[in-house]
Amino acid sequence: MGLGSTNPLKSQPRSFTKLLPWALYSLLIPLVLLHLYFRPLHFSKTSPNNQIPPPHKPVILFSQVLKAGIKQEVLCDYFNGKWVPNNSGPLYNGTSCGFIKDGQNCHNHGRPDKGYLYWRWRPKQCRLPRFEPTTFFSLLKNKHLAFVGDSMARNQLESLLCLMSTASSPVLVYSSGDDKKFRRWRFPSHNINVSVYWSPFLVKGMEKSNNGFNYNRLYLDSVDERWASEMGKMDVVVLSVGHWFLHPAVYYEKGSVLGCHYCPGLNHSEVEFYDVYRKALNTTLKAVMDRRSGDAMDVIVTTFSPSHFEGEWDKAGACDKKKPFEEGEKTLEGMDAEMRKIGVEELEAAKKKEMGKRVRLQALDVTKLALMRPDGHPGPYMYGFPFANGVRERVQNDCVHWCLPGPIDTWNEILLEVIKRWENGFEMH
Ligand SMILES: *[C@@H]1O[C@H](CO)[C@@H](O)[C@H](O)[C@H]1NC(C)=O
Ligand SMILES: *[C@@H]1O[C@H](CO)[C@@H](O)[C@H](O)[C@H]1NC(C)=O
Ligand SMILES: *[C@@H]1O[C@H](CO)[C@@H](O)[C@H](O)[C@H]1NC(C)=O
Ligand SMILES: *[C@@H]1O[C@H](CO)[C@@H](O)[C@H](O)[C@H]1NC(C)=O
Ligand SMILES: *[C@@H]1O[C@H](CO)[C@@H](O)[C@H](O)[C@H]1NC(C)=O
Repeated sequence: MGLGSTNPLKSQPRSFTKLLPWALYSLLIPLVLLHLYFRPLHFSKTSPNNQIPPPHKPVILFSQVLKAGIKQEVLCDYFNGKWVPNNSGPLYNGTSCGFIKDGQNCHNHGRPDKGYLYWRWRPKQCRLPRFEPTTFFSLLKNKHLAFVGDSMARNQLESLLCLMSTASSPVLVYSSGDDKKFRRWRFPSHNINVSVYWSPFLVKGMEKSNNGFNYNRLYLDSVDERWASEMGKMDVVVLSVGHWFLHPAVYYEKGSVLGCHYCPGLNHSEVEFYDVYRKALNTTLKAVMDRRSGDAMDVIVTTFSPSHFEGEWDKAGACDKKKPFEEGEKTLEGMDAEMRKIGVEELEAAKKKEMGKRVRLQALDVTKLALMRPDGHPGPYMYGFPFANGVRERVQNDCVHWCLPGPIDTWNEILLEVIKRWENGFEMH
């Protein structure tokens, strides 16, 4: 919670939140001015490069803040809350949206229960609005939004495409790579491009399946150019990685082997994948800041999304919960907590360095939200109608990705709130 790192209110006592609204307003006017003075708003894509943007009128900004509702927009911590039952349901379904990867189209694959669709995330301090496609379209007009990462990035992208296409249809304008790992869609109605780049480590890497070597290779000090070379064309980037760092791998740094993770056959020292994940984020965020020093870009890092395997991955019932955990039933700990922490810390470190510059950064801290939703995975429904010939004991389960529609739609609802706040000149914590 808070107003951002340039924010003088950070040193105020917590009781600040209890002040009467009028006091809030009077504090905000100078605050808004201060904020604009030190960090002008981004150039919009429509203004030609290298041209000084027109000065923003604080008065307009302030009225935007008022309109958005100060308490809701500025003081709410969207990542702290709980799942509550709600019968409004999702904006789309497995038939109405054509962008869902088969393995995540739980309804079309015969998942019989529907209860998991009727929960909403309720932050402690406010209501999270339902995804408003028209607001999203107006904020992203003339922009390119890129999702970069592993299959969780793709999962979030597909959720967003489904949410957006309830209002306007995109056209697929580019597709390449096996399994269509690099794709771009265009929403002609608002000149918005949405793309996905496969890059499970963000840094340069070679996956074991295609290098004739039984380990992934990661080059920790080089960003993956498959996406980074196109950074100049991106306005908003969502980075989402994590699970691939758990796999056996050999790590390289400064041209030599740094060590490896789980490689008993090789004579390298074991390096914790936590350190590697941290380094990969550091290299990535550094590359973003170095390359975009002259141009505006927004960077969102989706934090680690826990999996929910309770038994063996290939046995029935690996993740067959039908509703979220109750508060207190499950705590964030161990690897999930550590991966989240690294994501948030690296993001915050980059944010400090970038203060007052042209890259806006935000952690989309969904780890806790995700942890509480053991019911949202495809499980055996990653394949169609797995029990059509009766219940089998051995069945493959996906307890990592999310059904669409499903809990991951909430990530994108919060993403929209992040972008709204940025538009109003504020940041989230
Ligand atoms: C259910 O969610 C919608 C959308 O956020 C909200 O407008 C509505 O008030 C919620 N219903 C209840 C009973 O909380
Ligand atoms: C999916 O949504 C469409 C359009 O809103 C609706 O016509 C259809 O009945 C829905 N299908 C299911 C299975 O809910
Ligand atoms: C979207 O991509 C097209 C190429 O498919 C390009 O001509 C256009 O400038 C891009 N628009 C934005 C806003 O990036
Ligand atoms: C393993 O590495 C150590 C330290 O680098 C080296 O001294 C040793 O000779 C290596 N052993 C083999 C079998 O390569
Ligand atoms: C990356 O790590 C280095 C060395 O620890 C540090 O000086 C630098 O600030 C970090 N960069 C970012 C973007 O966090």
